[in-house]
Amino acid sequence: MKILLTGGAGFIGQHVHRQLLADGHEIRVLDSLRPDVHQTPPSIDGLIVADIRDATAVSDALRGVDTVVHLAAKVGLGVDLDDMDDYVSTNSLGTAVLLRALGRHQIQRFVYASSMVVYGEGHYECDRHGVVAPGPRRVSDLESGVFDPPCPICAAPLRPGLITESAPTDPRNTYAATKLNGEHLAATWARETGGQATALRFHNVYGPGMPRNTPYAGVAAIFRSMLERGEAPRVFEDGGQRRDFIHVADIAGAVAAAVANNPTQFTAYNVGSGTVRTIGDLATELSRAYDGPAPIITGAYRLGDVRHITASSARLREDLHWKPDYDLRSGLADLLRH
Ligand code: UD1
Repeated sequence: MKILLTGGAGFIGQHVHRQLLADGHEIRVLDSLRPDVHQTPPSIDGLIVADIRDATAVSDALRGVDTVVHLAAKVGLGVDLDDMDDYVSTNSLGTAVLLRALGRHQIQRFVYASSMVVYGEGHYECDRHGVVAPGPRRVSDLESGVFDPPCPICAAPLRPGLITESAPTDPRNTYAATKLNGEHLAATWARETGGQATALRFHNVYGPGMPRNTPYAGVAAIFRSMLERGEAPRVFEDGGQRRDFIHVADIAGAVAAAVANNPTQFTAYNVGSGTVRTIGDLATELSRAYDGPAPIITGAYRLGDVRHITASSARLREDLHWKPDYDLRSGLADLLRH
């Protein structure tokens, strides 16, 4: 296939690029090389350096293409509200500009990098009330070290579980809102054009090439940067937050599977390793791997963070015949080798 890969110079994008080339596709990469992300831009054959909101450049880049993989985005949780318009512009407007151009070029297939952040809090069950959706986290709870959300009906402790794609979405920060908006735009495009869109809801991605020394990075990259400076990883809350860490090569495999399979009009897939780990576990494993100082549990918190979010990736395994190659230990060993 002839594929336009947006964001192909980024951390995930470079791995996806390699995987798609290995699968025999012809790839054209479009990337803005944002200076806040790319201190030293990678060299990529035929790279088109352009912003995803540049309708002319995007339209030119789409000539002869039959599939688009859209990874270009402003990522991360955001430092403060000053970032709000940049997220919306880059992610929501950028996706809209791209989809509009797809319509004009009559391109039918669209693979979109979404995120587990579209769910907000993960799956929780109460002994009395079954599956419940905890409300927004309260500052007073966080201040007093109460991190686990209670049952919204009876305030009893909840059991966290694996979320499936049928769970309602509930984005809790600007980035999350724009990622969900991108899914809605893709579904709208598919309905109106007869095209097919696949949204891949990535869980916590780590691996070789992770960004360094930026507050916009995910937690694994932040801890790695601390350890490389000889500092202990600083774990927020009590370290019991549950996540699913997935190696970037397995993410690239999921994108390749989405490109290769017969898609429906619109389907969303969780992309996680299937193994639940805590942030405390991650910090401990990374400290051990880097032979660095033990993690510090700080009790600090960020209001935009959810407590637990872990995935069932059964739909992806069944529909697209995908399975991850790495668990956290082998994945961190791989990170260390590179
Ligand atoms: C992360 C990404 C998000 C991405 C998603 C799925 C960021 C900021 N978040 O979401 O963009 O879509 O994975 O791939 O890139 N923590 C610490 N110490 C730190 C930093 C964070 O303990 O120095 C804790 C946080 O409080 C949180 C957990 O680590 O509980 C995960 O944080 P993070 O990786 O930033 O965000 P996610 O919500 O998991």
